Amino acid sequence: MAKLDKNFLWGGALAANQFEGGYDQGGKGLSVHDVMTAGEHGKAREITETIEDDKFYPNHDGIDFYNRYKEDIALFGEMGLKCLRTSIAWTRIFPNGDETEPNEEGLQFYDNIIDELLKYNIEPILTLSHFEMPLHLAREYGGFRNRKVVDYFVRFAETVFNRYKDKVKYWMTFNEINNQMDTSNPIFLWTNSGVTLAEDEDPEEVLYQVAHNELIASALAVSKGKEINPDFIIGNMISHVPIYPYSCNPNDIMEAEIANRLRFFFPDVQVRGYYPGYALKMFEKNGYDIKWQEGDDEILKNGTVEYIAFSYYMSTVVKHDEVTSVEDNVVNGGLPNSVKNPYIEESQWGWAIDPVGLRYTLNVLYNRYQLPLFIVENGFGTTDEFKEDGTIDDQERIDYLREHIKASIQAVDEDGVDLMGYTPWGIIDIVSFTTGEMKKRYGLIHVDRDNEGNGTLKRTKKNSFYWFNNVIKTNGEEL
Ligand code: BG6
Repeated sequence: MAKLDKNFLWGGALAANQFEGGYDQGGKGLSVHDVMTAGEHGKAREITETIEDDKFYPNHDGIDFYNRYKEDIALFGEMGLKCLRTSIAWTRIFPNGDETEPNEEGLQFYDNIIDELLKYNIEPILTLSHFEMPLHLAREYGGFRNRKVVDYFVRFAETVFNRYKDKVKYWMTFNEINNQMDTSNPIFLWTNSGVTLAEDEDPEEVLYQVAHNELIASALAVSKGKEINPDFIIGNMISHVPIYPYSCNPNDIMEAEIANRLRFFFPDVQVRGYYPGYALKMFEKNGYDIKWQEGDDEILKNGTVEYIAFSYYMSTVVKHDEVTSVEDNVVNGGLPNSVKNPYIEESQWGWAIDPVGLRYTLNVLYNRYQLPLFIVENGFGTTDEFKEDGTIDDQERIDYLREHIKASIQAVDEDGVDLMGYTPWGIIDIVSFTTGEMKKRYGLIHVDRDNEGNGTLKRTKKNSFYWFNNVIKTNGEEL
């Protein structure tokens, strides 16, 4: 018997701000990404006040999908993708975020994309907001600190739900809504929620207020979507980096249990429709005054999600008696008390390569929530070398994907997890989110562009392109 359902959603994943480019085309407004410069591994991206002439903003051009979408979607069709997860740039639809009428040119652009995908029988899967706050809402309103922004988000969601209701079935609300739990890196609060912190503020208290507003926005969007088309299937989207205890010392086990709340806080609310006890207790103990409006309980209860989409790249480890500051800690995806896992290799960018961690994650999420799961991001960021004959032999990437797919199939076939699909991240090379680099490549299709923005933008199929095509054809039987 086949291990995966015949309708398993094999696909690819992308985000508007990282690949579309055309940042000032078609009436688009500026987004929070349009003021982020390029960084590199170990050097943070800068968020500038305005667009400065002598700085490089890699998201402005992305890989120019805006002007080349037909060519790219034809390649996705040739690869055999059954679905494509991408996002809608909020700023193409409402350039500043607070307009009352949408920008028709932006709406038409996504009609074109969706129609082109459907032409190749590729199911469009849309993220409403993949780090897409309009800059105006971030600067003038303080992003999701401000409850008004919830209304603007819901207006945006309603507009696109209505427009694409007959063509799109699968939606998710906010990309990696929980990665802003890491307040040590300012880009997370900025890109998730359009928020910057004042020096005298308690980052955690701000975070939980922002989180509350965003959870309300997500729940309202789910309810609205289901009202517009009851056949919509709407999920949330979280980043899951499992936190392992360093040893069987009960103190390490407890440390990991507590630390994992950072991963579960958002999905606990989005799936169950109410706040978990550990969060309420923490607000009480810390004296956090999180502002609720009358009716918020009902909103959360009525807007629960139907599936959990998540990204999985790596795992991390905590040790109860290891204490460094977050700044000094070199472990990626880590916490102040993270230590390196001695059993696991890392990528060039320091991301732990742990396929078993994906099977573990699928089990943990399924057992906790009992909802269908969807792996909407997984992949290996590395540099590519052209061989003399002009091909790219990206065996390392194939190995990474193969082992993670194997682990996912085990979770389905041996553990009984309900898995909807698998869409590797950055199916075509795009701008890296954390560093803004091009050379950290995930794609199965190479794009000729470097970290400084030079290159012809020519697309070349890598060996992984042909490998994945066969994985899809055989529904994961041949890896
Ligand atoms: C996730 C994001 O955090 O990881 C993507 O949803 C991002 O937007 C991906 O690109 C990989 O991260 P990076 O920094 O290697 O691009």
